[in-house]
Amino acid sequence: MANVLILNGSPRKNGATASLAKALMEGAEENGNEIKEDYITSMNIKACIGCDSCMRTHNGCVQKDDDMAIIYEDLLWADVVVFVSPVYWGTITGQLKVVFDRMFALGNKVGWDRFRKKCVLLMTARGSDYSMALDFYGILTKYLGWTDLGAVLGAGKEAEAKAIGENIE
Ligand SMILES: Cc1cc2nc3c(=O)[nH]c(=O)nc-3n(C[C@H](O)[C@H](O)[C@H](O)COP(=O)(O)O)c2cc1C
Repeated sequence: MANVLILNGSPRKNGATASLAKALMEGAEENGNEIKEDYITSMNIKACIGCDSCMRTHNGCVQKDDDMAIIYEDLLWADVVVFVSPVYWGTITGQLKVVFDRMFALGNKVGWDRFRKKCVLLMTARGSDYSMALDFYGILTKYLGWTDLGAVLGAGKEAEAKAIGENIE
């Protein structure tokens, strides 16, 4: 059994990308996994200010008074992190990007070797070009040293998303 965190960066709670996330959650739940979802758009999360304090002090982020504290806790809890985002201007939404930038402080605090996860990418787009998003995902997983469990790219692919959820253990 695994702890699965859905990091939902879509601004539309009942949109096409949220539907993929719902399907993955169904599959993962049926398989006995624990699920949590952080819906980023409803949270108050400030952007990284690039002060490098987290790198120098290893004390976490200087911005202590926002909802990133919830996401930090959930990230430490999770074995598998599912990134959910529509394509905006070729890549992920600003909401999700802000969380990734702030995640830097958590790795610097707990140590990157102790911050290894499995991850999944769920995205939809009006068109069919996911290349920039996939480049970004490749860089992210490489830098973090996380294990990619798969990507589902495109609206209506709920069966694919559910199958990934069913295979999480
Ligand atoms: C600000 C904005 C930028 C977008 N940029 C792209 C884009 O670069 N490429 C694309 O194919 N679709 C783009 N779209 C369309 C969305 O990716 C698409 O409608 C997606 O399925 C919406 O997902 P949702 O229902 O989860 O919100 C954009 C939409 C918005 C609102």
